[in-house]
Amino acid sequence: MKQFTSDELRKLYIEFYHSKGHAIIDSASLIPENDPTVLFTTAGMHPLVPYLLGEKHPAGNRLTDVQICVRTGDIDEVGDASHCTFFEMLGRWSLGDYFKKDTIAWSYDFMLNKLGFDKDKFSVTVFAGDDDCPRDEESANYWREVGIPEDRIFYLNKKHNWWGPAGVTGPCGPDTEMFIDTGKPKCCPECSPACDCGKYLEIGNDVFMQYFKNADGKFEPLKQKNVDEGLGLERLLCILNGYKSVYETDLFSFAIKKLEELSGKKYGEDEAMTVAMRIIADHTRTATFLLGDVKGISPSNVDQGYVLRRLIRRAMRYCRTLGVDDSALVELAKLYVEKYKDAYPYIKENEERIVSELEGEKDKFAKTIEQGLKEFDKIVAHLPENMTVFPGKTAFRLYDTFGFPIEMTEELAKEKGYTLDRAGYDKAFADHQALSKAGAEQKFKGGLADGGEFTARLHSATHLLNAALKQVLHDDNIQQRGSNITAERLRFDFNFPRPLTAEEIADVEKLVNAEIAKDSEVKLEEMSVDEARASGAVGVFGSKYGEVVKVYTIGFSKEICGGPHAKRTGELGKFKIVKEQSSSAGIRRIKAILEYDE
Ligand code: ALA
Repeated sequence: MKQFTSDELRKLYIEFYHSKGHAIIDSASLIPENDPTVLFTTAGMHPLVPYLLGEKHPAGNRLTDVQICVRTGDIDEVGDASHCTFFEMLGRWSLGDYFKKDTIAWSYDFMLNKLGFDKDKFSVTVFAGDDDCPRDEESANYWREVGIPEDRIFYLNKKHNWWGPAGVTGPCGPDTEMFIDTGKPKCCPECSPACDCGKYLEIGNDVFMQYFKNADGKFEPLKQKNVDEGLGLERLLCILNGYKSVYETDLFSFAIKKLEELSGKKYGEDEAMTVAMRIIADHTRTATFLLGDVKGISPSNVDQGYVLRRLIRRAMRYCRTLGVDDSALVELAKLYVEKYKDAYPYIKENEERIVSELEGEKDKFAKTIEQGLKEFDKIVAHLPENMTVFPGKTAFRLYDTFGFPIEMTEELAKEKGYTLDRAGYDKAFADHQALSKAGAEQKFKGGLADGGEFTARLHSATHLLNAALKQVLHDDNIQQRGSNITAERLRFDFNFPRPLTAEEIADVEKLVNAEIAKDSEVKLEEMSVDEARASGAVGVFGSKYGEVVKVYTIGFSKEICGGPHAKRTGELGKFKIVKEQSSSAGIRRIKAILEYDE
């Protein structure tokens, strides 16, 4: 297949749609205008919301652009092959002009004839239909018309084939997505682009924005039917060029090379070092664009500034892991400025600001670390001699008072021969969050890990999920193998030998939602370990004789757990599984969210 650079790909796309009558518009700022429900511009359509709702766009009713976006919801996934916190989205829009037929014909032409994807590997998904919106047979027919065979057209539900709104309310609609079949064997008989197994890679998304999701969670038809297409530049480049990860594309390769030079380590050789290089490269690129944005923001303790600070400090932390100085961020930022200055000239104009803010944050972080280290040494000097566990509460105090990152405490504790009581830290953290009532719903939408109330609810949902899996899969051996909760979603790992079917996932959701609908009380009892075991509670049974544990009963679930939890299941909103994938051999991973109408 032909190889493409990022410049070639941007140009090819924009020129193609320009030739189809689309006006070329500039990328908007990363900081959304008049949208309090999200922190960053997360998609190409976001700055165009007023026009999707019917306002006249000065450039006309066919538009195309390359929009810079930031998504921090999946920050934990950064370091893998494809997740980026910053990315560019190639996009085109019909604002009440052409609809499904032209959209599909042009997508097909672009993907197959211009990019050269193999027709035999090209698959599509269309919306299967539900109470809100009918089955999209029309799109399926247009795909058939251009020659896509039946077995490469998949009908999927709202979870997969619906996009938007970008914030809490706004334009949205059914979509049709394009995939390349990598040729890997099917992961299961039902294997489809809905799976995360890696057989199908998404290369583009055409959204038919014809609904408005209102504050009641209802879908109202829009007065104009729009098209919103989005293609992730990094991903597309990676797939087109046959790379294993986006870090091999020309958008990152120079940054990785720099990190290799600075560290003397080789990318791809050691997994931990590779992940560190990816995180540093990703986060520094995002920081460069946030600092250099036309509405350039600064690191701070609130909103966008907080996310920026977190990204910068996280990158600096990984500099430690990689064994390079924090100033690597400045060196990388300068390289990014050079790389992107033609596509985004303001990045060059704001170079001084980018560098000085990064240096300022480096100094602040260094002070934080210095203070934290002193404090850490003091604490260790006072710990009883036979103690092997570093207390979680103390780790939280280091974080809360000195801003000392937990990962650093963990590392230092390890160096001194302690294991960190991470669960204790998480609990102290959650308790504190619940107290400080930080985080409006708006903020957690943008990816901030705050809002103790939400984490408590997701925690209760995790218990229900754990119990529901055993019932639905008829497997009493299922056990929690990991859990991670942010204010946005829960992540739950458990032992099970195969992917869940769509039906099983739907049944688990149903069971959990039924318990939520009952609004049952969350009950807390304290009892001895033996009593807990006898009562049928699951969870980690401590080994200390006579130890008293907390047992939470939530509907059909009973677990030993430290809390905190919601008071009643009715607080939990609507439980929805958004991902089911393999985590490691024999271990499945589920990500789920709680949806609220308002
Ligand atoms: N707005 C759509 C997306 O982000 C195109 O996938």
